Amino acid sequence: MKNELILILDFGGQYNQLIARRVRECNVYSEVVPYNISLEKIKEKNPKGIIFTGGPASVFGEDSPKCAEGIFDLGIPVLGICYGMQLMTYTLGGKVARANKREYGTTTVKIDNTSSLFQGFDTTNGFLMSHTDFVETVPEGFKNIGHTDSCPNAAMENDEKKLYGIQFHPEVNHSVNGTQVIKNFLFNICKCTGDWIISSFVEDSIQKLKEKIGDKKALCALSGGVDSSVAAVLLSKAIGKNLTCIFVDHGLLRKNEGDEVEEIFRNQFDINLIRVNAKDRFLAKLAGISDPETKRKIIGEEFIRVFEEEAKKLGTVDFLVQGTIYPDVIESGLGKSSVIKSHHNVGGLPDYVDFKEIVEPLRDLFKDEVRKTGLELGIPENLVYRQPFPGPGLAIRVIGDITDDKLTILKKADYIFREEIANAGLHKSINQYFAVLTNLKSVGVMGDERTYDYTVALRAVETTDFMTGVWSKIPYEILEKVSSRIVNEVEHVNRIVYDLTSKPPATIEWE
Ligand code: XMP
Repeated sequence: MKNELILILDFGGQYNQLIARRVRECNVYSEVVPYNISLEKIKEKNPKGIIFTGGPASVFGEDSPKCAEGIFDLGIPVLGICYGMQLMTYTLGGKVARANKREYGTTTVKIDNTSSLFQGFDTTNGFLMSHTDFVETVPEGFKNIGHTDSCPNAAMENDEKKLYGIQFHPEVNHSVNGTQVIKNFLFNICKCTGDWIISSFVEDSIQKLKEKIGDKKALCALSGGVDSSVAAVLLSKAIGKNLTCIFVDHGLLRKNEGDEVEEIFRNQFDINLIRVNAKDRFLAKLAGISDPETKRKIIGEEFIRVFEEEAKKLGTVDFLVQGTIYPDVIESGLGKSSVIKSHHNVGGLPDYVDFKEIVEPLRDLFKDEVRKTGLELGIPENLVYRQPFPGPGLAIRVIGDITDDKLTILKKADYIFREEIANAGLHKSINQYFAVLTNLKSVGVMGDERTYDYTVALRAVETTDFMTGVWSKIPYEILEKVSSRIVNEVEHVNRIVYDLTSKPPATIEWE
């Protein structure tokens, strides 16, 4: 089945992916494509509508990004946002001017609510404005449908040609009811029906994977993280026992985690699972190493080696499954090559494994859609909503060199912290939380005895993108409980500290 499609032309703005997600949240499939996509390509894709994103450029700039000529004559509805509106104006003969002051922030926009774009709105609404250039005169055939105190044309339309421009950003939360503008564009103007739903994606993918793979063999590296887990279950629904998953347990997972992964995949989903218990190998390689980047490198390399050895035992496989997701493959509108995560994950394996083709069943999905797919497939909620966990695992949470004893201490302390966060119902609002075993020993007193033991640090952050974040204001009573439980229940810990730094300047992990 081919879904209705909205094309998002990426002019380099920071909210591009967000626009695509908002459209999908309205159950309409969207794709982000470079701004200079050709008319032929657009026709081939046959979208129901096109959205131009904002961007940092000015239409006056020499190299400013321009869309293909003739795009406005295709008869496909277009919504230009911010720079997109200015470009539409400039291209169609209106006038763009430069204000002497930038307009920024949630701003009251007076709107013409008889326009199909603003159906359901009052005559004023708060939207996020962020611009210096503005549309001074709308192109011929357009009429003004919105203004602010300082921006005469905050919205415009040519209803006959289905061309719309808005100076504000409907996709961000700072805009009140912004999604309604997007919905109006999708449903009133583009006449979408909203056929993008996860259950049909799942059904459809299973069917396609069946056709593609048939009775050939596929191999998947399972990390226990969300993406590889969802990819594996999807594949197993399609090809059953012709899928083999290799789960390299490097011994640096959280308490019980290795067993939980095994339980879910082997017992609940009856997947062919090879679990390699490689803790000793990893610890031997890591012995005496305290530099974080060296630890990462060793773990990344060893991971590949173990995987390769196991894969070789299976002989040639036809397909290698990867849990690549959409944000990893979106090409930037400004023509840069696609973004590939540099962090060590279970990517980067193909050179070492004998396979014929890669299959990436989640390539078109955003993270929240991957999670919905996981739930649809029956993967337990606690795995689907698992907080991010770094590929090198606890190795970068034991500061300095790693020993089995230190790992044991950290696992116990971390488990208590997580348990109390869940008991307090904070596990959904704090995006990442964990314990760190610092390399610091200090003096304490236990009964009448002097102790000289480790300090455990607790780290908890609230963030949406993990690029920036603030430390979480966990109530004192909960911190108190965690602290007292850890010092009482975990041997060799006599002091707990809480990390009060945001990112930046600190990072989320300590190493
Ligand atoms: P930082 O510490 O850079 O972390 O603020 C940002 C996010 O990335 C995760 N992280 C990693 N993930 N391999 C990974 O797969 C790594 O080496 C790694 N280092 C950090 C971190 O847990 C956080 O979610």
